[in-house]
Amino acid sequence: MAETGEFIYARVAEELAQAIRAGTIAAGERLPSLRALCARHGISLSTAVQAYRRLEADGLVEARPKSGYFALGSVCGVACEPAMSRPRDVPGEITVARLALDILQEARRPGVLNLGAVVPGPELLPLRRLVREMGTLARRQPEIIGRYELPAGNMALREQIARHLLRSGCRCRADEIIVTNGCMEALTLALRAVAQRGDTIAIESPTFYGILQGIESLGMRALELPTHPRDGIDLDALQQALDTQPVAAILLVPSFNNPLGCNMPLEHRRRLAGMVERSGVPLIEDDIYGDLGFQQPRLPTVKSFDRSGNVLLCSSFSKTLAPGLRIGYVVPGRHGERVEHLKLLGNVATAGLPQLALAGFLRHGGYEPVVRRAARVYQQRSERLRRLILEHFPEGTLVTQPQGGFVLWVELPPHIDAVALHAAALGEDISVTPGVIFSPRGDYRHHIRISCGQLDGEALERGVRQVAALARRA
Ligand SMILES: Cc1ncc(COP(=O)(O)O)c(C=O)c1O
Repeated sequence: MAETGEFIYARVAEELAQAIRAGTIAAGERLPSLRALCARHGISLSTAVQAYRRLEADGLVEARPKSGYFALGSVCGVACEPAMSRPRDVPGEITVARLALDILQEARRPGVLNLGAVVPGPELLPLRRLVREMGTLARRQPEIIGRYELPAGNMALREQIARHLLRSGCRCRADEIIVTNGCMEALTLALRAVAQRGDTIAIESPTFYGILQGIESLGMRALELPTHPRDGIDLDALQQALDTQPVAAILLVPSFNNPLGCNMPLEHRRRLAGMVERSGVPLIEDDIYGDLGFQQPRLPTVKSFDRSGNVLLCSSFSKTLAPGLRIGYVVPGRHGERVEHLKLLGNVATAGLPQLALAGFLRHGGYEPVVRRAARVYQQRSERLRRLILEHFPEGTLVTQPQGGFVLWVELPPHIDAVALHAAALGEDISVTPGVIFSPRGDYRHHIRISCGQLDGEALERGVRQVAALARRA
């Protein structure tokens, strides 16, 4: 296989990263020169430079002018984060969907302390206001439930969503938006509109198991690509995949991806929009966590740079306002007709009452203060959760440092089987999500995802301490 086909630079960088983390290369020690690295691995100069750039981005080495690269050592902070993922570079069938269903089912058992669920804290949601809005509407206009909504959704809500999208740089008309039952329906409609059974979908690795289940249920295959816990998908690897493989669509979560929490930098977003335009391969952009960033203002969506109409923006209000409303949407660009037809065939329309209640809530300016407050709380919780993890889990544990959302991705020392850890924790009525369900073929066997959406204070600390004690005994 060609050198770049195996993402050699990522492998070389990982080898050095492991040596730095293990202390084999001490803090302050000079790393091999670029020439020495080329000779040792039989790689080109540009690959060696790429490997060192990766290590710099990971906070593991620093470049000193005219002196070379030096190890920064395993101080906590960026150096305690996992490295770029290195998935297999051939598309494959998805085999973990059943396991994912079982794991999620068990986590819902009453009495289980759920450190796994990516559900927002109810105290951070405007539930009473939304219920009041629905109650008033139901009393005053009972005819709302006596009719079908338009397949594309209620126009009052679509107008509000069109305004709402301006905050992420996306300018579209209300009639270019299709309302869906949550983001999950938006994603599957988008997939069905642009790809067919047997087609290959390029995704981040790891990625949300719902995306994997969606791809599997449609008989498509997933091509996992290297993804960095800060910057997101490796665009060089994506470009290479587009150049060498029959990729039918790209499906990414550029803003605070679940489970990595990575946030694609502005320049990458621009570049990605250009790649989509040049290649003609559609991008399905899942922006469900985009408004939950810790820094304001948020970055624009990739969709906001889209001139070709080939980006399908999908999102919902499930993580910000109310998951139970089941209101999401897709801005399908030039695939609008097909998406609308599929929506009609699938379930005719989304229920009208929650759509109108949400339209009222957005019209009265309810959104902004709710997400601002929630993002502040999630930032505090995730920083605390990160400290607890690094303090209590076994030495060698790495954890992401997300800049938005409310999940952390934890890489445990390799001897720990996270599925066994999940089972042992459930035995103590605690649920964490094992990493295997975030890859099509059950990779990430020593990883877990922990969420702080719903838990804080003593409950969070007790849960982390108990799971950490189990991990130390593994
Ligand atoms: C990245 C991502 N996309 C989509 C969804 C599904 O969202 P919804 O509940 O709106 O269908 C989730 C839910 O966890 C998610 O994490």
